[in-house]
Amino acid sequence: MIRVSKIAHASYETPDLDRQTQYYTEILGLTLAAKEKDTVYLASTVDHHSIVLRKGAQSKCTRIGFQIAPDADLDAFEKQVAGHGIKTERRKDPEPSIADMLVFADPKGTIMEIFKRGDFSHQKFQSQGIVPCKLGHVAFHVTDVKHVTKFYCDVLGFRESDWMADFFSFLRCGPDHHTINLMETGSNRHFHTAFELRDWGHMHEACDFLSLHGYKLLWGPGRHGIGHNLFAYHRAPNGLITELFCELDRMNEELGYFEPRPWHRDSPQRPKVWAKDPSAANLWGILPTDEMMQ
Ligand SMILES: [Fe+2]
Repeated sequence: MIRVSKIAHASYETPDLDRQTQYYTEILGLTLAAKEKDTVYLASTVDHHSIVLRKGAQSKCTRIGFQIAPDADLDAFEKQVAGHGIKTERRKDPEPSIADMLVFADPKGTIMEIFKRGDFSHQKFQSQGIVPCKLGHVAFHVTDVKHVTKFYCDVLGFRESDWMADFFSFLRCGPDHHTINLMETGSNRHFHTAFELRDWGHMHEACDFLSLHGYKLLWGPGRHGIGHNLFAYHRAPNGLITELFCELDRMNEELGYFEPRPWHRDSPQRPKVWAKDPSAANLWGILPTDEMMQ
């Protein structure tokens, strides 16, 4: 089976394009890579864009871009997807830096954009703003977590890293513990978009920077049980939630366990089903505010 190997970008519709662009450039510290009519491309480093903003009536995550390996065959991947009875479409030069893209919808209607990375963009890290290392994961509320999880595993080649009971799955497409996570809550919508920071010192700077610019944390800082990442959540101007994280578990695929860390309770720490227990959400004890679920 051909597997996707990296999350490349996430695309959003947002009512106030200028305000959200300002947030991504001045607060998060992404690079404004390109601007077309009603579309903005924002970059971190190696990729031309990590975030795409399009003007729309409501704030929502509409598409996610995934890369397949440089030596993988996009035609063969298309056959693999079509073999599951999924309608696919091929687009030539759909976005800057992407020559050939395979497009189809996941079961909740988010568009999957699969492609091979051509040239790297070689953007330098910005010197102002939070400046994450990369886009880490996108989390969704879903109505049928088993069905959507199976789609990501069977069609895109994701692996299950962990579950919280039977309602929250954490899926990886590379060494990072999760790239997509899905929580069954009764609706299909964006939950949060997460960016990786360097370390705890960077988290500390980021929380102060957010505060100085009027952004209050919704939850955190804390340490998740599942994935063991340090986390802090806030709400972007368009109402969608952003997570900043570091120290996320990394899977050693050959050995079948996550790289050992002093905060692990299991030794070795392997993929498992976690009980619905407060420590699965935050080992440091503080549980999410109600606003996290709005
Ligand atoms: Fe997250």
